[in-house]
Amino acid sequence: MLDIHHEYIQLLRLIKKYIEQETGERLPLPKRVAAPMIAHSIKKTPPLPSYRQPLPEITPAKDAIPQMVKQPAAVTDNPPKDFDIDTIEKIEESIQGCTKCHLAQYRNNIVLGTGNPDAQLMIIGEAPGEKEDMQGEPFVGDAGQLLTKMLAAIHIKREDVYITNVVKCRPQGNRNPNHDEIEACNSCLIAQIRVVKPKIILCMGNFAAKTLLKKTEGISTLRGKFFDYHGIKLLPTYHPAALLYHPAWKRDAWVDMQLLQKELEG
Ligand code: URA
Repeated sequence: MLDIHHEYIQLLRLIKKYIEQETGERLPLPKRVAAPMIAHSIKKTPPLPSYRQPLPEITPAKDAIPQMVKQPAAVTDNPPKDFDIDTIEKIEESIQGCTKCHLAQYRNNIVLGTGNPDAQLMIIGEAPGEKEDMQGEPFVGDAGQLLTKMLAAIHIKREDVYITNVVKCRPQGNRNPNHDEIEACNSCLIAQIRVVKPKIILCMGNFAAKTLLKKTEGISTLRGKFFDYHGIKLLPTYHPAALLYHPAWKRDAWVDMQLLQKELEG
């Protein structure tokens, strides 16, 4: 204890000397600091953690951490009564001015779908991007151009299929759609599937595949095989936008397109 007291006095002396040098003034000598006082304050100081000691466990409250892993949207496969309608035009009418989610505030157009409502093949993407929002039509940007080429490679014209998205309004900044947005559009999507009654659904990307299949696996696991969706064959594959970023995935996407062609022709 006395050692510490001595060091403390030394420290005060050094500080005093420094101030005197800087100001050119002499300071009075410090009054003697009572050793018991210092001892008291030292006693109160908690011990420094030792690196040898295990750090205490910190268990945050459950909802203190934001959910990082996106869960697939819970899909109600029975659309409510207002979607019990039998044409795409009626669906279109019923969603005019939709405000089921906050994307309504930002959109220029609701992008319902395009193509042949009697198609054998229905393609489902994620959500409209900037160009789609401006033009009111799905897959008209870069990803859409690639989609058209992928279809052409298996001798399918874009206008012969029905193309839509899980979410019908553009998420700002092309971010991923969230659970509420997917849920808000769900009955519309189911109604579209009921009207088109396709032989095959091609789900492009994680959101389409996970939403319809209610699976948690990612697209790289789900792709390349057919699933049963209420009697309709459903094939998940990579989203064309993902193929633009990862050209190496095109090989697998080509395998999927050939599978699709075989199934359509069979
Ligand atoms: N990506 C999609 O998933 N859909 C579009 O319509 C455009 C880009």
